[in-house]
Amino acid sequence: MRIGVIGTGNMGALLVDALVKSKAAKPKDITVMNRTKQKALDLAERHHRLSVSESPIKVLQNADIVFLCVKPGQFYSLLESLCGSWHPGQIAVSITSPISVNQLEQIIPCQVARVIPSIVNQSLSGSSLVTFGSSMADLSKNKLWAVLSQFSHPIEIDEENIRVASDLSSCGPAFLSFLLQKMIDGATSATSLSRKQATQLTTEMIEGLGKLFAEGIYTLEELQKKVTVKGGVTGVGLTVLEQGYQDVFEKLFTETQKKFVEDKEAINKTFGGEKN
Ligand SMILES: NC(=O)c1ccc[n+]([C@@H]2O[C@H](COP(=O)([O-])OP(=O)(O)OC[C@H]3O[C@@H](n4cnc5c(N)ncnc54)[C@H](OP(=O)(O)O)[C@@H]3O)[C@@H](O)[C@H]2O)c1
Repeated sequence: MRIGVIGTGNMGALLVDALVKSKAAKPKDITVMNRTKQKALDLAERHHRLSVSESPIKVLQNADIVFLCVKPGQFYSLLESLCGSWHPGQIAVSITSPISVNQLEQIIPCQVARVIPSIVNQSLSGSSLVTFGSSMADLSKNKLWAVLSQFSHPIEIDEENIRVASDLSSCGPAFLSFLLQKMIDGATSATSLSRKQATQLTTEMIEGLGKLFAEGIYTLEELQKKVTVKGGVTGVGLTVLEQGYQDVFEKLFTETQKKFVEDKEAINKTFGGEKN
């Protein structure tokens, strides 16, 4: 399987690292291209025999699956410049949520899918959110699924739920890191514990917690029950959390949905909306 990656910023580079680390693809079978060439060259330095292309068209000539890893506003001009360069058996994969698969299919004349990765895929874990286009053949779906399975747990998500699913799996690591940071801030301002020790205890705790879930030892509810001894301190802490964080996540998801609508409206101005 020959893989192409156009755009080697944060996510494009992360995808290449995950593909190589998981052995989903060998560097010699990966061709990358980035507007600022140095970023692609840096990646090639990390992965011996990875090819760096001068143009996105050359990436298309050397790949069965092409990951498009540019920002939403950069998509349309890139795709316009690629018109006529795709071949029908190829699979184009966008990694951005505000551009629907339907919109991509209007401008990409081959099989199309959307895959939203997560920063946690870097450690060959976490989900990747998959939406297949109507043109995807079953064989191609299986091929793409097999590649993604090497470094993540692929989950099929409807267009309708792509934002909230991305909030949980891709933004979630940032949201949880923020909450953990707040926990450290609180511990160090309310007691004499050093920031260094509070940070170590918290990061080691979250690492262990992840392993417990990975091993399927507890559900979220079971774990809370297990730690909460009747009349103990965990219960006191949970009561404070119940009061303080009552509707914070409803507010958060309402705001991300609002931002998503704005982003989609901006995209529709260039892509021209959805077609039935
Ligand atoms: N961050 C996350 O956790 C996350 C998770 C899932 C999905 N995503 C999605 O991933 C996408 C990329 O995000 P990012 O954080 O990786 O952005 P980024 O770091 O800005 O990367 C975008 C890259 O695309 C390059 N580029 C732009 N136009 C190009 C063109 N015409 N040809 C070739 N390369 C081009 C840019 O090159 P330059 O070096 O010249 O700027 C840049 O390196 C976004 O659509 C985002 O929604 C992000």
